Amino acid sequence: MKFSHILLAAASLLSLPIAAAEPLPLIPLPVSVQQGQGHFPLKERLKVFADAYPGDSIAMVLNRFGRDLTKATGIKVVKGKAKNAELSLRLNKQLGPEAYSLQVSSDGIRVEAARPAGFFYALQTLKQLMPSRAVMAGVAGAVSEVSGWKLPEVTINDTPRFGWRGFMLDEGRHFYGKEEIKKLLDVMAAYKLNRFHWHLTEDQGWRLEIKKYPLLTDVGATRQSKVLAWGDVKPDGQTYAGYYTQDDAREIVAYARERFIEIVPEVDIPGHSQAAVASYPEFLSCDPENKHEVWLWQGVSGDVINVANPQAVQFAKDVIDELTDIFPFGYIHLGGDECPTHKWENNALCQEQLKQIGSSNYRDLQINFYRQLKEHIATKPAARQRSLIFWNEVLHGNTAPLGSDITIMAWVGADGAALDAAKRGLKTILTPQIPYYINRRQSDLPTEPRSQGYGTETVEAVYNYVPMNNVPAELQPQYMGVQANFWTEWVEDASTVQYLTFPRLAAVAEAGWTPQSLRKYPDFLQRLQAEADFYQLKGVNYGKHVFR
Ligand code: ACM
Repeated sequence: MKFSHILLAAASLLSLPIAAAEPLPLIPLPVSVQQGQGHFPLKERLKVFADAYPGDSIAMVLNRFGRDLTKATGIKVVKGKAKNAELSLRLNKQLGPEAYSLQVSSDGIRVEAARPAGFFYALQTLKQLMPSRAVMAGVAGAVSEVSGWKLPEVTINDTPRFGWRGFMLDEGRHFYGKEEIKKLLDVMAAYKLNRFHWHLTEDQGWRLEIKKYPLLTDVGATRQSKVLAWGDVKPDGQTYAGYYTQDDAREIVAYARERFIEIVPEVDIPGHSQAAVASYPEFLSCDPENKHEVWLWQGVSGDVINVANPQAVQFAKDVIDELTDIFPFGYIHLGGDECPTHKWENNALCQEQLKQIGSSNYRDLQINFYRQLKEHIATKPAARQRSLIFWNEVLHGNTAPLGSDITIMAWVGADGAALDAAKRGLKTILTPQIPYYINRRQSDLPTEPRSQGYGTETVEAVYNYVPMNNVPAELQPQYMGVQANFWTEWVEDASTVQYLTFPRLAAVAEAGWTPQSLRKYPDFLQRLQAEADFYQLKGVNYGKHVFR
């Protein structure tokens, strides 16, 4: 136990009102926190009760909380009645879909919410109120003694600022595997993030089994270099491979669902697609007579899919159908960023199609490709409908043929691009390259691992980005939320992904959840200190320099 924790434990035994002086270590900061003077003592047994809900899903949320509590502390969780339970979960239909209230008093703990997600978030907050981060980390046997354990008396009323609170991981460049993804999902859930954007395809690798096109993974998931070459760094000649089977992906879907995280699969087409082109050059390539291989280099490949080839359009429809089979959520991301057009400009089919659609802008060929995919989805039954998300470069074309029910993920010139999208009546998500690309260096310390950037995307810079700044009130409903992105050109191992992701992901989570008027970096930094124990117990690496 750290000295500061011993002090805290001693002070709480004496019921000193230390909590009033120090902010409770809650991230993201709730909308309203009112601390009292008393406490609720935790004992060897906790009597719990949950209101009935379709599918018993509130009881399931409570059971999973109980499982983590028992695992970490040995506290036995037993069923009680509404009247005598020490932890009760009660429906309150007045609250918003992810909102909750949490009241800790000397009599017990009362949680109210309208939906299972609200209960889940309340219990995530409750875990952060525990004297040890072991419950949050779900570490077996981490706490040997709970006598003297108390929860501070507090009333919390909470609801998120945004409905979209995301994290994107690029596994096209480098592949980390199921167990690493599950760890990331656990930490996301602790911070009440609710969208995992899984970037599954790239020039440098296709990482998801597609049954109708087995070469995507037989060929497209392997390349002859682990490092991605850049400048003087040459391909290393290692055979580097990895992909998720559909069963793997379903396992991740189930794991995410238990944590109220929706997965947004991204298949980035028609650019960033050299691995797919190398797998099926005969119909995906603009020049099938030439050699195509999974790319070994960083940067943006010009070897894009031939969008004017009807077989390429059919391919994309088939891929979408399999994504729909695997991912039961509302969104599919089709990429759309950084798609060079020179191969189209030199291809007869593409030249002809551009004339047919009455445009001289080759970006419109890309829009026309997406239009056909969107129309394909529209023919499906309700349960197979999916909304499409694109990177903001599609705004360089005429987006009208795509209708207004698409979402623009704004990364380059993000604030301006998001505003452009909103003015076109489109939904938008803020994921500004600077500072929300948290693969970039977070300090200029010599201990910083090799990564992109100059160290200017500090924890503070990430924290201080203001989402939806100066956006007219009438356009604000178009803004769905915020997301941190992690691109992996430079990052070969999961430990470095974690090092760069934490704690900056906590800073983005707070921007997504907490009202802007309550967000202050010095206060965040103080609350953040408790997270070092969480990361250590959880076994994830993190940037140490902001911890005292
Ligand atoms: C992107 O960073 N190319 C979306």
